[in-house]
Amino acid sequence: MVDTDTFVPDAVAEIDEQIGDANAVIALSGGVDSSTAAALAYEAIGDQLTPVYVDTGLMRKGETEEIRETFGYMDSLRIVEAQDRFLDALEGVTDPEEKRHIIGEQFIREFETVATNVDADYLVQGTIYPDRIESEGTIKSHHNVGGLPEVVDFEGIVEPMRDLYKDEVREVARELGLEEIISERMPFPGPGLAVRIIGEITAEKLEVAREANHVVEEELEEYEPWQALAAVIGKATGVKGDNRVHGWVVSVRSVESRDGMTARAQEIDWETLQRIQSRITGSHENVARVVYDVTHKPPATIEYE
Ligand code: XMP
Repeated sequence: MVDTDTFVPDAVAEIDEQIGDANAVIALSGGVDSSTAAALAYEAIGDQLTPVYVDTGLMRKGETEEIRETFGYMDSLRIVEAQDRFLDALEGVTDPEEKRHIIGEQFIREFETVATNVDADYLVQGTIYPDRIESEGTIKSHHNVGGLPEVVDFEGIVEPMRDLYKDEVREVARELGLEEIISERMPFPGPGLAVRIIGEITAEKLEVAREANHVVEEELEEYEPWQALAAVIGKATGVKGDNRVHGWVVSVRSVESRDGMTARAQEIDWETLQRIQSRITGSHENVARVVYDVTHKPPATIEYE
């Protein structure tokens, strides 16, 4: 386990030395990794760091407001409202890797605009050890390690947590005094709710996915899952009131894991599952069914795409 007493001052000193008087940017997603990296780098270089939060429209419920509150103390924080541009770019796209690619590209474009504006020479990233391993295996393209450095010509990349596991990052986050909502937060994928929507991304599916993920996070908190999520996986017939509907099927998933590379589906009590079902089917007129995913990783992955 990481020794935070030495890790934090060492990392701050290393960032300071690497960046010097130059400017840096970091893509802040609200997840524990990028938040911790941003807090470390801000401690090292203050407003020479511009943390950039891009609202892709694929974020969790309330995420943008939370970012504003938590990181408002950083005067240099930039919030980019890009929801419409992402939805437009994704219109009609159904292939999972193509979706990831489009999101990655659009993200880079939004981020690059700010990086150029603030004359940034350095890119700070919240990359952690398992990200590097999974990217080497190319199981899925992770846009938090690929993409950015190749497109934007930075003088250097700063990855203060490159050798840490997720639980160690949480230790560092606590040491830095980040709020529990950040330090204890479940991992959330870079492409956001897009990997929790099978097929085309539409405003309605996003609305269903966002609310369902909120319900699941709330209801399953006591199980302390590595990740608990909800995905819109297709359509099926249901009965609502007196009418048959051909509505969305939402799959609920809750897993235990240390690093996301393998995972075990959690056993959830029936009453909780029924409460989740009732809240999700009640959240939108077009949700017909809620199912619970009992598959471990392997053979399934954690996310649906
Ligand atoms: P899978 O679905 O491959 O996920 O079992 C393993 C871990 O990685 C996260 N994940 C992603 N994170 N960009 C990311 O930044 C992605 O494209 C991506 N896909 C999956 C996932 O949430 C889990 O924690």
